[in-house]
Amino acid sequence: MIIAIDGPAAAGKGTLARRLAAHFGYPHLDTGALYRAVARRLLEAGGDPADADAALAAARLVTADELDDPRLRDEAVGRATSIVSAHPAVRAALLDFQRRFAHAGPGAVLDGRDIGTVVCPDAGAKLFVTASPEARAARRAKELRDRGVPAIDARVLQDIKERDARDSSRSAAPLAQAADAYVLDTTQLDPDGALAAALAYIATRE
Ligand code: C5P
Repeated sequence: MIIAIDGPAAAGKGTLARRLAAHFGYPHLDTGALYRAVARRLLEAGGDPADADAALAAARLVTADELDDPRLRDEAVGRATSIVSAHPAVRAALLDFQRRFAHAGPGAVLDGRDIGTVVCPDAGAKLFVTASPEARAARRAKELRDRGVPAIDARVLQDIKERDARDSSRSAAPLAQAADAYVLDTTQLDPDGALAAALAYIATRE
């Protein structure tokens, strides 16, 4: 079964995706890391994220072994990512890789913004994971501080709101809830609670 997980930044998609993948023994693809790797390559080369040609050139060079680089998590990379990922050509260049990953074995977990709507509209289970902007900002700020990066909650909240607005309003594959997705609001849930709710939903799809 393909499990598609979409939702805004810092809603708990990544944690849930990793735990579901471990539960079912499926491989997991964090598609945000793919787009982050494009942005990082571009920034490193001194390119402008708004330049579609430069972004496409970077997208063509991205490989699977760049996806675990902790530098992909930097907030500057995150901001540039939501700009490079709005270029339709960049999205098209990464589509094949994502679909091949999804269909390579008996199952897979993919998380991102457009998995249930564009990458795998045929996924057996679709979750839309969300939480209030304040809860998401508090989690992202804590995550940054745990990594030793100073973070101001109000600034992180502003960044998250800007990123949500950009991801939701772009014309190419905007962040959107698939009509047939199960909405999981994690504002009041810890990771165990989110996993339990997701497993209960997936059981109805098997
Ligand atoms: O999920 P994460 O915060 O790592 O994603 C970083 C950015 O990558 C998002 O803000 C979004 O702009 C972009 N993205 C996307 N489509 C995906 C995954 C991520 O456009 N499937």
